[in-house]
Amino acid sequence: MASLHEPEVAALPDRSAEPQIPAAQLTFSDEEKKQLATYRSRYPTAEGAVMRALWLAQEKFGFLPPEVIRLVADELGIPYATAYGVATFYTQYYKAKVGKFVLDVCTCFSCQLCGGVDMLRHLEKKLGVKAGETTHDGMFTIQGVECLGACGSAPMMQVTNGPYVHNLTEEKLDQLIEAMKQGAMPGFTSVTLPQDEDDLGGNRRTDVNVTETYQTPPVAKVID
Ligand code: FES
Repeated sequence: MASLHEPEVAALPDRSAEPQIPAAQLTFSDEEKKQLATYRSRYPTAEGAVMRALWLAQEKFGFLPPEVIRLVADELGIPYATAYGVATFYTQYYKAKVGKFVLDVCTCFSCQLCGGVDMLRHLEKKLGVKAGETTHDGMFTIQGVECLGACGSAPMMQVTNGPYVHNLTEEKLDQLIEAMKQGAMPGFTSVTLPQDEDDLGGNRRTDVNVTETYQTPPVAKVID
């Protein structure tokens, strides 16, 4: 295990790089513009809508190269620097093309203490790429990320801004990778948090349903 927290994210995008999205495609449809206007109307200032707008752009283009960030800024009428700052702060916004599956391994403090960095190193070795890189077949992008708010089941990771996978082990990662290589999201069989606490003799309240699995749904799909 590494002794200190190590940032594993990719470098900031080169703002003077050649555009990756053809100019003819670099536009929002009328429907998307309407959606962006709706986001804008929900906040006192246009800056407030920048996260939703970037998310919409990422779902449309797949990632956020500088020209897409500028498109978002122009559509909202906010400074490019503001949109760039938000897009580059969050690892959930992809600044480069990513693989079919993005494996965000938490290497922040709780997860690191429980082996998060070891899990990331295991993935690097297994997939033959470094954190921040994508496998040659375009299947997997891996990166180390900051706390994802599930410290109680560390070490953990998130898959493509969607499901959380808890209590990682090398064996569990191996199974997940093999399942994903078949092209489908695996069934996540992580031990649930309530079961964890039961096993540990915890005192979780009993007037709520015990779930079979514990997943965080893709945020972009449930906020509207
Ligand atoms: S430190 Fe990993 S989820 Fe919080």
